[in-house]
Amino acid sequence: MDGLRLERRDAAGLAEIRPQLLEVYAEIYAARLGEEFHSVARFDERLGWNTEVPGFAAVVGYLDETPAGYAYGCTLQPTTRWWNGLRTDVADGATTETGTRTFALSELMVVEKARGTGAARAIHDELLRGRQEERATLLVEHDHLKVRALYEAWGYEWFGEVLPFPDSPQYDAMILRLQISRGGSAGAC
Ligand SMILES: CC(C)(COP(=O)(O)OP(=O)(O)OC[C@H]1O[C@@H](n2cnc3c(N)ncnc32)[C@H](O)[C@@H]1OP(=O)(O)O)[C@@H](O)C(=O)NCCC(=O)NCCS
Repeated sequence: MDGLRLERRDAAGLAEIRPQLLEVYAEIYAARLGEEFHSVARFDERLGWNTEVPGFAAVVGYLDETPAGYAYGCTLQPTTRWWNGLRTDVADGATTETGTRTFALSELMVVEKARGTGAARAIHDELLRGRQEERATLLVEHDHLKVRALYEAWGYEWFGEVLPFPDSPQYDAMILRLQISRGGSAGAC
């Protein structure tokens, strides 16, 4: 997308722009803020948990110096609860985490004017660029079939149904195999 500037942030670097990111979230999820799970406070709490996990990284997309979207995630640790709500039988070891195996992409969102422009994909790809994990995972709301199809077009594969929190919507977990090249790019393989 013309004029999109991508900026990488670690946990410390995110702290100073956290209020701005919460504003972007509130704009994008305006219609759902009344649901306890989607409230700004609960989102902020989940963001805080993320920043404390090793491997945390974020990418913010700016349009005219204003955040127009972002993505962040962290590396799943052996004690992660990420797979606790998995409701689908999977192969033995498929959810075993080592602290180096899986990058969990916790959030990806862009404001309305940046949709359908490639901005979301650019933010996503920048976040995964150079990651050393063998795979990335994300959760997509079960009812959001078009978003799931979008992620499939980006190379993700369905993994299983997940209820990550007792009061959250039902999600589908998806997995993207990461291929690390010497140049540091990551993508579907
Ligand atoms: C998901 C997202 C980052 C993808 O951005 P993008 O690559 O520019 O793709 P689009 O916005 O064009 O979305 C692709 C399709 O999914 C649909 N879609 C996007 N978000 C949706 C949502 N929250 N619920 C239902 N459908 C959704 C779009 O309407 C579009 O359908 P279309 O092709 O018929 O127009 C962006 O749509 C977004 O920020 N959505 C709101 C936040 C969100 O839902 N994040 C994902 C959580 S799993």
